[in-house]
Amino acid sequence: MKVKSEIDFTIKDIIAHAKEYGFVYPSSEIYDGLQAVYDYGPYGAELKKNLKDLWWQAMIKLNENVVGLDAAIFMHPLTWKASGHVDSFNDPMIDNKDSKKRYRADVLIEDKAAELEADGKADEAQALVKEMGRLLDAEDLAGVKQLIIDNGIKCPISGTANWTDVRQFNLMFSTEVGSVSEDANKIYLRPETAQGIFVNFLNVQKTARMKVPFGIAQIGKAFRNEIVARQFIFRMREFEQMEMQFFIRPGEEKKWYEHWKAIRMKWHQALGIPAENLRFHDHDKLAHYADAAVDIEFKFPFGFKEVEGIHSRTDFDLGNHQELSKKKMQYFDPEINKNYVPFVIETSAGADRLFFMLLCNGYKEEEVGEGEKVKTRTYLKFHPALAPVKAAILPLVKKDGLPEIGRKIFDDLKYDLNLIYEDSGSIGKRYTRQDLIGTPFCIAVDYESKDDDSVTIRYRDTMEQERVKISDLKSKIEKEVSIKNIFDQL
Ligand code: GAP
Repeated sequence: MKVKSEIDFTIKDIIAHAKEYGFVYPSSEIYDGLQAVYDYGPYGAELKKNLKDLWWQAMIKLNENVVGLDAAIFMHPLTWKASGHVDSFNDPMIDNKDSKKRYRADVLIEDKAAELEADGKADEAQALVKEMGRLLDAEDLAGVKQLIIDNGIKCPISGTANWTDVRQFNLMFSTEVGSVSEDANKIYLRPETAQGIFVNFLNVQKTARMKVPFGIAQIGKAFRNEIVARQFIFRMREFEQMEMQFFIRPGEEKKWYEHWKAIRMKWHQALGIPAENLRFHDHDKLAHYADAAVDIEFKFPFGFKEVEGIHSRTDFDLGNHQELSKKKMQYFDPEINKNYVPFVIETSAGADRLFFMLLCNGYKEEEVGEGEKVKTRTYLKFHPALAPVKAAILPLVKKDGLPEIGRKIFDDLKYDLNLIYEDSGSIGKRYTRQDLIGTPFCIAVDYESKDDDSVTIRYRDTMEQERVKISDLKSKIEKEVSIKNIFDQL
């Protein structure tokens, strides 16, 4: 059996599969779509929901000192002044005058560094990235442009180096509240969910009677007017984050940073991602709020890229909110008899990026059969706890009492498992359809079922078949799809 290796398939295979089999569609496709905005189809919505539920439960059930929150998308505009997003949430952009294409200046330079590294010039690559970091920190945008020119970086479309100046571009979307469009009514669509947690720090601490160290977890939409939206759902303008802010005593940030780094890496592996396809990447250029930051990167078909960030945010956010709101953001620590503004370690995962990671990791093409009958089998290998559909009930024929047996199994299991019932078409084609959406178990009802009260389970990954008593089905499948299988690895 030949398995198509990860480098053989491309992002195009994944996008086509996601569209064709009900996972992800371009937004408002009948109007030719909206760039960097996507909709999740029936199986995509299930997969994403399972992923978010799993994260929520892992955060809240496995950590007694983490509680949940669901804050609004709209927040008081001063929130974004305090957080630094009004002044610093910018990307440096540059336009090519010939192609009229816009790029992120730092991405152009990083791509050049990757090229140098691939050519065995690792030292040159490192020096280039370091110099870019220095110029950006010094806000020397003319220097950044010069770096692009000096390194012979050209527009991939026009092939020229006819660049505009580098300018800062704020990524926040704004809109107006109320019926009068005046500046005073301008509000922003949140660019991160974290600020909803910070402004509620004292509400949660007091009402849930939390003691430092403790965490607040939240899942929700975030919006960024990305300059370059590319690579499918990797960089979207509307996306979902799963964030947790962990409030700690000042001075303990290194310990807790390492603690959450290890936990989050284990979590990705527990989803079924091989360790060699995950890595840590320390930030060269720190965000405006962080004193240490690391990305967890996954090996996508287009290279290792960030799926989650872990940031040591010091007391930057709470301190700034305290200053601007004039409300105390302090915690009295009875153990040391002291008041302080807690420091924060943040774990910030993108639900859409993790979804994309699961698709890339799960997409398998392999040759099955022999001789003339060799054909390619495509299937999605999701962890059963995450699979959109857990089992398909497939009576062999639509007569002779088999549908009745199938319907009874369906009715017994439907309250606990997401199922599909299908009783027409060849059984081979029905198995194929389930493989394509990643259903881990197919349950075939045949003539023997009438006599032996048993059915055949066909396993997605191995295509092996096993005879099982109908009365044992529920416990067998529930055991396999339980999130406990993932929790046990954490
Ligand atoms: N609160 C910290 C924060 O927002 P970030 O590194 O900017 O940090 C965290 O974002 C995560 O959100 C990223 O690791 C990524 O998974 C996801 N993310 C960020 N921008 C995104 C975008 N445009 N499209 C999809 N996911 C995005």
